Amino acid sequence: MITIYAKTDISNIDGDVIKRAGEIIKAGGLVAFPTETVYGLGGDALRAESSKKIYAAKGRPSDNPLIVHISRFEDIYEIDRDIQKSAMRLAEKFWPGPLTMIFHKKDIVPYETTGGLDTVAVRFPSHPVARAFIEASGGFIAAPSANISGRPSPTNGQHVYEDMNGRIEMIIDSGPCSIGLESTIIDFTQSSPMMLRPGYVNEEMLSEVLGEVTKDPAVFGNTLTNELPKAPGMKYRHYAPKGSLTIVSGECDAVREYIKKAIDANSCGQRVGVLISHENAEYFKAADFVGDIGNRDNEEEIASRLYELLRKCDEENINIIYSEEFDTPRLGLAIMNRLIKAAGHRVIEV
Ligand code: TXA
Ligand code: MG
Repeated sequence: MITIYAKTDISNIDGDVIKRAGEIIKAGGLVAFPTETVYGLGGDALRAESSKKIYAAKGRPSDNPLIVHISRFEDIYEIDRDIQKSAMRLAEKFWPGPLTMIFHKKDIVPYETTGGLDTVAVRFPSHPVARAFIEASGGFIAAPSANISGRPSPTNGQHVYEDMNGRIEMIIDSGPCSIGLESTIIDFTQSSPMMLRPGYVNEEMLSEVLGEVTKDPAVFGNTLTNELPKAPGMKYRHYAPKGSLTIVSGECDAVREYIKKAIDANSCGQRVGVLISHENAEYFKAADFVGDIGNRDNEEEIASRLYELLRKCDEENINIIYSEEFDTPRLGLAIMNRLIKAAGHRVIEV
């Protein structure tokens, strides 16, 4: 398949690109598009065949449900039942934006979209290109992140091209995603609202509206409980670079020393990379790849650069990666949730 690669400005949207994308979706095809979190791989959410194509293009297990994206708040009533008042308050505050909510689905949503579940996840993104694209496509776009299953989510058009060229009809590129981590997911089908995936909308922001929020233990990368994560997608090894990643946790000096020694001790010709805060980057000149993720107190930058650096490790053929811990105040839970998964839970305390 030849994939159309189309660029459009975020503030001056190319109407022809959006029109073409909408036609492809209406004809049952797939289009990757930008959102404020990560790029999505979109198909018509109300068409079983389109959702099946999404799973095939990603190589994703078909029990892993897709998020339905809308471009008008009221469209939530077309696909969801039993929408609680507290959910409406959350939507008022954080929609359009990086928040996904789960409700019981209406019959119009095929089981192919929800991975066989009676519930459906819905998100109203704020990205202008995403909104224009959803609207031009009939209003309901099923979209997982636009990566090959298991790879880090794409945060720019080039990442999408690497994974999806030849597999889908079109890619819309409008530059880097501002947030760079997937949306926060809240499940409203449990006895009380439960956070299934941390994101930019953090626990504190949620609890201002909902009061105390319970968290799926899997949110912390907790493998000690035998319970499966409630979001089916959270049980897979995820966001992972090809090399083996280890997180080194502890006092700044001790972490630096540990990683430096590990680099020096590497004598078997392995290519070693580090993911490190800007303040520490100068200490690791001996590494084959230094992934400077930004200043330690700039958590937005850390979040937005994480996936890009994990992909760079692959490009540089890095076999062994050491990362600092980025347990920052507001986005730390979301950042570390991804990093711990990417590391397959390998964390060393020093
Ligand atoms: O920011 C985002 O949410 C991005 C952009 C493209 O909008 N999308 C995204 O989709 O991250 P995906 O498919 O990569 O992750 C969706 C997660 C998966 O872990 C999936 O299992 C979970 O949401 N999920 C979806 N529907 C669900 C449902 N009905 N019940 C429980 N978990 C659900
Ligand atoms: Mg994903």
